[in-house]
Amino acid sequence: MSDQTHDQQGESRTFPPDPDFAASANGTADLFDAAEADHEGFWAEQARTYLTWSTPFTQNLDWSNPPFATWFADGELNACVNAVDRHVEAGRGDKVAIHFVGEPEGDSRDITYAELHEQVQRAANALADLGIGKGDTVAIYLPMIPEAAVAMLACARLGAPHSVVFGGFSADALHSRIEDAKAKVVITADGGYRRGKPSALKPAVDAALDHDETSVTDVLVVRRTGEDTAWNDRDTWWHEALERAAPTHEAQPVEAEHPLFILYTSGTTGKPKGIFHSTGGYLTQAAYTNAIVHDVHRDTDVYWCTADIGWVTGHSYIVYGPMTNGVTQVMYEGTPDTPDQGRWWQIVQDHRVTILYTAPTAVRTFMKWGAEIPARYDLSSLRLLGSVGEPINPEAWLWYRRTIGGDRTPVVDTWWQTETGAIMISPLPGVTTLEPGSAQRPIPGISAEILDDEGKPFTTPEQVGYLVLTKPWPSMLRGIWGDPERYKETYWSRFGPEYYFAGDGAKYDADGNIWLLGRVDDVMNVSGHRLSTAEIESALVSHPKVAEAAVVGASDETTGQAVCAFVILRQEAVAEADEPGEGEALVQELRNHVAKQIGPIAKPRQILVVAELPKTRSGKIMRRLLKDVAEGREVGDVTTLADSSVMDLIKKGMDAPASD
Ligand code: WT7
Repeated sequence: MSDQTHDQQGESRTFPPDPDFAASANGTADLFDAAEADHEGFWAEQARTYLTWSTPFTQNLDWSNPPFATWFADGELNACVNAVDRHVEAGRGDKVAIHFVGEPEGDSRDITYAELHEQVQRAANALADLGIGKGDTVAIYLPMIPEAAVAMLACARLGAPHSVVFGGFSADALHSRIEDAKAKVVITADGGYRRGKPSALKPAVDAALDHDETSVTDVLVVRRTGEDTAWNDRDTWWHEALERAAPTHEAQPVEAEHPLFILYTSGTTGKPKGIFHSTGGYLTQAAYTNAIVHDVHRDTDVYWCTADIGWVTGHSYIVYGPMTNGVTQVMYEGTPDTPDQGRWWQIVQDHRVTILYTAPTAVRTFMKWGAEIPARYDLSSLRLLGSVGEPINPEAWLWYRRTIGGDRTPVVDTWWQTETGAIMISPLPGVTTLEPGSAQRPIPGISAEILDDEGKPFTTPEQVGYLVLTKPWPSMLRGIWGDPERYKETYWSRFGPEYYFAGDGAKYDADGNIWLLGRVDDVMNVSGHRLSTAEIESALVSHPKVAEAAVVGASDETTGQAVCAFVILRQEAVAEADEPGEGEALVQELRNHVAKQIGPIAKPRQILVVAELPKTRSGKIMRRLLKDVAEGREVGDVTTLADSSVMDLIKKGMDAPASD
């Protein structure tokens, strides 16, 4: 493995916890000792501390059939009751659950826990009226509006696993996810606001369902933009269904292991994996980490996680963690530069946000826009900053702390995955001396190691290896929907059944801090979104003019990685592409084709038409060499190439102007 570490040189500043912060921090040093002394007992205590159980559990971890774990299996609970009802019952119904900020200026509203309670009950009844009950799956395809949280919680109330599909995915991607999960109902909206104008969503649902057979019987449509939308027999307006529905609904307690949700994520093959999570274990760790890492204090904090609800960060740290903890949070619909580049800081100022959780790609974008923009706002309410999704380089980390955090706030770099369900490696802001650029240590209750190529753990500083998790944890994925073999194969076979292989490279520094170094498999990370090279390659070759394609993630200053594609055209298309102006047009056509197949996030930054791809004699595409080219490096060792002149040709083609 090569060391692709982020510039660590010249950054020796570390930040010990502020004593005032430490004095009231939820995450304390004794948690490490307690977890060390009794791993399972520790987690059982968290499950009892953070959650309300309708039937208390007596069983703890069952790891007798690895890699299939159960946690707290004889206990029963309801996730929606934990996230909503119990706060109202405790007299906190008037507390704001969500400060919703729509993208159009002035389009804001506050939703209290009591209002949320009524909404989730009505929505649960509306879904039940459509025949949804325990074990049925529901697809959710919505913009960042409160109804997204209501829809998820209403499903949880019924014991119906939800499958949220990010609104940026295309109709085709939505179709395959709906059918894989056999969703009976889809919840969508006419559209949402993006970059200052309405952006339609419903047409993608209509196209996704325009197939001979579909598992979907009904579509609930939230009215958000009010724009005209085509209407089918299976469609019902969300607001009409909720108005008609009874205002009270008795939540269905489910077993701790009952699946709460499915979330599709990219793997190393073209087919996305339906990662599914449990109710009890998942909720325990989501709430616990939100308390000890984000340090939420229910009665005083205003928390804001900027992720989209369509990703796991939105599931764990907008809906399930913070709401289980009863916090007040901000939810923002739109982009950071609408109407101007100060929008986020305006929101922080208006709502006196105390905790901000975002992605390095956003931080680097703000760096590019300039420190003078946030400087125009009062950000003094902030007391903690968090980062997630990809490695945050020390420069961005320091800028984040200085410019946004007033050189005062801790910054926690949190490593985890869709599969882990919740934060795994992160500093504790009241305990850890912060090391910019490193996620540092596993949190209390989590065990990780770094293995070498032979699968042997080591602690040698600066040696690069593979990150593995060595003990089951409550919010671990329970499998891949409908594919237990793929679950075993993907996560538990590379280093044997003892180790969960995360797919990330990592190393220790001399102080024993863990540095994450990015994926070691064919998975890319673009702006914190996970994309598979194979999935984009198969989208490209599905275009009639493309014979072959190879995709790599090339490092990009702002987005972390960017999609770069190399394509070989079919014979008929070659001559056509040589016509003046046609090459450009073809590249655009291919980029749009990928956007249509997968979604705009997967659109290659660059597509290079080549005559050959670098292949080994056994025919395996050497993506490593393409990556060298895409990143403008001297091309590495080409001795295993079947035809080494191929790389010269490709390099020459690279000098042609890049498309944007
Ligand atoms: C992959 C998981 C975790 C929710 C958002 C992404 C990368 C995530 C960090 C971090 C370095 C990180 C890893 C991981 N990643 N957080 N703090 N430092 N890398 O979830 O889409 O499942 O992606 O994101 O490569 O494997 P995901």
